[in-house]
Amino acid sequence: MVDKYLVIGNPIAHSKSPFIHQRFAKESKQLLSYDKALVAIDEFESFIEAFQHQGGKGCNITVPFKEHAYALSQILTPRAKAAGAVNTLIFNDDGTITGDNTDGQGLVEDLLANNVVLSHKRILIIGAGGAARGSIVPILEQNPASITITNRTIEKAQQLVSQFDNEKVQGQSLKELTSTYDVIINSTSASLSNQLPDIASEVIAHASCCYDMAYGNQPTCFINWAKELGVKTTIDGLGMLVGQAAESFRLWRGVKPETAQILHQMRSTL
Ligand code: ATR
Repeated sequence: MVDKYLVIGNPIAHSKSPFIHQRFAKESKQLLSYDKALVAIDEFESFIEAFQHQGGKGCNITVPFKEHAYALSQILTPRAKAAGAVNTLIFNDDGTITGDNTDGQGLVEDLLANNVVLSHKRILIIGAGGAARGSIVPILEQNPASITITNRTIEKAQQLVSQFDNEKVQGQSLKELTSTYDVIINSTSASLSNQLPDIASEVIAHASCCYDMAYGNQPTCFINWAKELGVKTTIDGLGMLVGQAAESFRLWRGVKPETAQILHQMRSTL
């Protein structure tokens, strides 16, 4: 019997994870199946239990179940704990479930693959939701000079800062940002509704790299804005998506798949 994996969410129809993982499996000659499952909001736990009993080996978890997956995991990795959310479940042979979060790792690997230096740089994260939270520990591991979190609702940014208790992690309101950031990461869902965060153009223009966790078949409005302001390096979140998948695959299979080619192919068919 082949090892079985799933991505679970609601909605799930447009998930690219099966395509990505099936490609990883083919290229690394791993025999496995990877499908998607639409699960009703109140059936997450029972669905996971049933899949585990059927011999499933692990799952990716997407919206809206990442916090449910966190609560269900008996073992949590440090980065999952810091993120407060789980996107990868590993079903262990002893019946326990390990929860990890590979989103932030995917982000950092994509930045590094694009030759963006994080070490000793000043990083600005726009947004203070789950996506921002999951990125902080992997970015801290790159030894930045500082990470500033800014958010429309400043209280949420301050709350996030207090969770980390690290002098490198600071909060700042959108209006009070200064033009001192090297790398700016947009983790908000604003791009999905074609909206820009309310930040002064000078702040964006000063950066050497702007990253948007969102992506589409056209550049997002945030990416277009940064380009118009002359930002040298602009990157959307497709590479983060492939990167988090590669890290999940490594956790399950012990092999880190190559991502450049599949990313190139996905880009051309968006
Ligand atoms: P995710 O898990 O993707 O981070 P989330 O937890 O719902 O999603 O967080 C969404 C983030 O996008 C929040 O930081 C939100 O700001 P608020 O906390 O003020 O709501 C931010 N966001 C969404 N739409 C936005 C917009 N139009 N302008 C600025 N920020 C926006």
